[in-house]
Amino acid sequence: MAEIRIRNTNERITGEANVKAFLDSQEVVYEHWDANKMPEALREKFVLNDEEKAEILATYDAEIRDLAARRGYEIWDVISLSDATPNIEELLKKFEQVHTHTEDEIRAIVSGKGIFIIKSEELGYFDVELEPGDVISVPENTNHFFTLMDNRQIVAVRLFIEKDGWIAYNVEDPDFIKA
Ligand SMILES: [Fe+2]
Repeated sequence: MAEIRIRNTNERITGEANVKAFLDSQEVVYEHWDANKMPEALREKFVLNDEEKAEILATYDAEIRDLAARRGYEIWDVISLSDATPNIEELLKKFEQVHTHTEDEIRAIVSGKGIFIIKSEELGYFDVELEPGDVISVPENTNHFFTLMDNRQIVAVRLFIEKDGWIAYNVEDPDFIKA
């Protein structure tokens, strides 16, 4: 279950109904997949070969196709990040740049943890801390970035309308407050 932290005030929002209501107010899609469907052998595995990635996509095929039908996604894949990822430090630096995309950025967390940092026009930046089973979509043209949490391990399913929709446009935002 996700938790929210508002950076300007350090206020935390917890509890499923509160988190859902807050994210709804920010037009952030927030749904759930059953984390228990993950095959046992893949639950704590953060270096995945192509067969294992295909197994994860097959496990969540119904959920993926349901989202795709409702929201227009055409392609999907699995991304895994951990300290075993080549150039992880460089990648994280690149990730930790506020940016926007012309399509929404949707992620379903299936293993590990991660944080989306998203800008609210009214509240400033807020963190969404994500766990397995959390599905989140950052609206198009909204300032955000993604990073790992302390355990530095995540596996997520990504869905795209088209690959070019995910090009990052970096934003230099004076309102951005570092954690
Ligand atoms: Fe992004």
